[in-house]
Amino acid sequence: MLDKRVMSTTINISFTYKEYDSPEELDTEDQELIVAAREAAKRAYAPYSRFMVGAAIRLETGRIVHGSNVENAAFPSGICAERTAIAGAVSNYPDDKPVAIAIAAITEEGLTAESVSPCGNCRQVIAEEETRTGKQIRIILSGKNKIQVLESIGPLLPLQFSGKSLRADRP
Ligand code: THU
Repeated sequence: MLDKRVMSTTINISFTYKEYDSPEELDTEDQELIVAAREAAKRAYAPYSRFMVGAAIRLETGRIVHGSNVENAAFPSGICAERTAIAGAVSNYPDDKPVAIAIAAITEEGLTAESVSPCGNCRQVIAEEETRTGKQIRIILSGKNKIQVLESIGPLLPLQFSGKSLRADRP
């Protein structure tokens, strides 16, 4: 057998984010957004999972748009809180760009102690929104005892698929 030499480059992707023990450690605007996400979670329609998620998006003008998960007996027809909020923001205020999104979740035991991170579908949708507006969206993941803040969705979706990929092979 011929010795097959494999040439490869190992790429390391790392990222940083901020972590806080309580919302009081954040500035008042971010605290307000976390409260809005928690309130939105209370309005979730989640009779199947009983996992109630809320998202609150701050737009450039300061306006806050809420979203919560809306489940369905046909499970895949349900939608997450983050995508509900993005759809509400884009369809109602297309020119007011999102600058931050806070996410919170409530179970039968109350607010989750750990923060909740957006699912893959929602990461993709938040990434598209950053592309659409050309503006980074701060991601505020909030639990009762832990808040994590990222400056953009990018690190949560490395090597992301985007409109650029669709056009890459076109002349
Ligand atoms: N869910 C969200 O709304 N956002 C997330 O970030 C994670 C999951 C919803 C989907 C489903 O209604 C329930 O939580 C359980 O997965």
